Amino acid sequence: MKKEVIKKNYISKIREITKHNKLYYDKSTPIISDSQYDILKKEIIDLELKYPYLKSKNSPNQNVGFEPSKSFEKYKHKIPMLSLSNAFNRDDLVNFEKKIFNYLNKDIKLNYSVEPKIDGISASLTYLNKKLIYGVSRGDGKTGEIITENLKTIKDIPLEINKIDFPDEIEIRGEVFIKKRDFDKIKNNFANPRNAASGSLRQKDPNETRKIPLNFIAYTFGFINNNLHTNQSDFLDSLRRWGFKINKDNKILSNIDELIDFHKIFETKRFDLDYDLDGLVYKINDLNLQKRLGFTSNAPRWAIAHKFSADKAFTKILNIDIQVGRTGALTPVAKVEPVNIGGVVVSNATLHNEDEIARKDIRVGDIVKIERAGDVIPHVIEVDKIKRDKNSKLFIFPKICPSCGSRTIKEFNKLTKKYDAVRRCVNDSYGCERIAIEKLKHFISKEGFNIDGLGKKVVENFWSLNLIKKPQDIFNLDYSKIEKLEGWGKLSTRNLKESIENSKKITLQKFIYSLGIRHIGIENAKIISHSVKNISRLIQLIRKKELNKFLNIDGIGDTQVNSLEKFFSNKMNLNILIEMKNILKIESQNLIKNGILKNKTFLFTGKLDGMSRAEAKSLIEKNSGTTLSTVSKNLNYLVIGEKPTKSKINNAKNLGIKIISQQDLKKLLN
Ligand code: IVH
Repeated sequence: MKKEVIKKNYISKIREITKHNKLYYDKSTPIISDSQYDILKKEIIDLELKYPYLKSKNSPNQNVGFEPSKSFEKYKHKIPMLSLSNAFNRDDLVNFEKKIFNYLNKDIKLNYSVEPKIDGISASLTYLNKKLIYGVSRGDGKTGEIITENLKTIKDIPLEINKIDFPDEIEIRGEVFIKKRDFDKIKNNFANPRNAASGSLRQKDPNETRKIPLNFIAYTFGFINNNLHTNQSDFLDSLRRWGFKINKDNKILSNIDELIDFHKIFETKRFDLDYDLDGLVYKINDLNLQKRLGFTSNAPRWAIAHKFSADKAFTKILNIDIQVGRTGALTPVAKVEPVNIGGVVVSNATLHNEDEIARKDIRVGDIVKIERAGDVIPHVIEVDKIKRDKNSKLFIFPKICPSCGSRTIKEFNKLTKKYDAVRRCVNDSYGCERIAIEKLKHFISKEGFNIDGLGKKVVENFWSLNLIKKPQDIFNLDYSKIEKLEGWGKLSTRNLKESIENSKKITLQKFIYSLGIRHIGIENAKIISHSVKNISRLIQLIRKKELNKFLNIDGIGDTQVNSLEKFFSNKMNLNILIEMKNILKIESQNLIKNGILKNKTFLFTGKLDGMSRAEAKSLIEKNSGTTLSTVSKNLNYLVIGEKPTKSKINNAKNLGIKIISQQDLKKLLN
């Protein structure tokens, strides 16, 4: 064949594939099948191989159809994508309802939207003026990755919606998953369908995503302008009318008995379904109640995932390791013969603590039953004592810290009047190697400093190289050394330096959390940061008098104050704080919040009408106010409900504090 003819033939095929790419990616209306597309692609590649002079920037060899990106762009979710709390039995469900009734301060009849919990990957779709503009992964819940082009390859995802009532601005969330029968075809490449879906979604080349047939089921919204729906079930109906797939097994049920019956049926039915699911999601159907209930720091109060019973397997304990955690807790971990449980290879199982080992008489060499429920760490349920070797020996729990050799203790809990089940190393703070490393890992965790390129493995590595021993070392790294390390280069070192620089600006709340003080999690860090307002005043907590003021604040108790006292009485901790104050730019709390109740403090007494204390507290906080737990001269308003405590009213009167009703509070809030 003449060169000219070959070239002409090639160019026409390139034109053809460019047209199909456009139809597929831009318009999402392909006119040829996937296999026809693959044939065309192969013809082009074969021609290029045979005649190396054939080249085109639109060749499938050059990633046609989209602009390839080195890494996905980040996207901050307007509303965080949180996870769900889990329930495993009736008690958990009863407890879930109880908490709701407490929060609302009323027992009311609830309706639930019941939805199968597909075990896939959640995704968020933002539509502006009825067109899909962003498709984003969940990421860490706060920030995801823009994977719009990959999501567009999923046929269940509409690109444009022409329904009159489709909101101008809406973010729809749902699950991306692969059907079991499609997974069967590719199962050699992935551990389970969930991994297949996630791997496929994270392809740099949407052509690769397209090769694995993904599905999308919609189930909720992130934000929505002008939401006219009353119930979650109404919203699901709208989703269907708008052209989204919703689960055909969604249901409305109205009490725990019905939920449990349905769960039982589904527990076996699930094996006949063409997708993997790991439980049912129960959501309070009334959207108004959902709004009132709101969220804790990581999950909604209005929904729960009722998991199916976990997968179990038998295996042998090869060894028992003692791990030392951030708070000095010694946690025994069984190293087991690797065993596949529900598609995941398990080689470690937690044994919880010293007491648990003694109670179950767990020994090295035992054959044990292991359970793996959802994302929870696998644990040992029971020992098969019949299979036990007659020479096996009782496991002796170490009495000294395996990391630093210090004494260990079981603390006495004054409240429960019992000794803790957990044994702890007394050498806390940065004196014990393992505690120090774990503290550093906590420091850089997602909720703390969250430094790109400085993950847990890097921290371990830098520790062993003496590059990081204390948190402040992170900000004084010798980059010329790092650049020469294996796995590091000029570019990655520069990137690390940049992310460390960027992380220097941090909110006070995150800073407090990152210190890893025992009993001070995200919620308490928030309370403390609202109270002290800036880093200088945080350091003043070294004074017992300042610290005791905390006992006034709702949410903080003896346990927290004692832990803070212990933290501040340690010289090393103080040095760290002072050095960090100079290195970092810690944002003061009052710069951030400017609500209507700013600088105002409240205390409630008596029963409130149609609202719990917790809800009232969160309302005050949403408007930048603070709630206290006792009457003092720091109090601005005493809010009285039904049957208030007389002494509180008298104390308030004596101190000249304003006494208001729930109605007055409403007025303050407009
Ligand atoms: S609602 C904050 N509904 O479960 C509300 N989630 O553990 C959470 N999931 O990340 C989302 N089916 O990936 C919701 N019908 C459903 C769901 C569902 C599966 C997944 C989702 C989420 C995870 C939470």
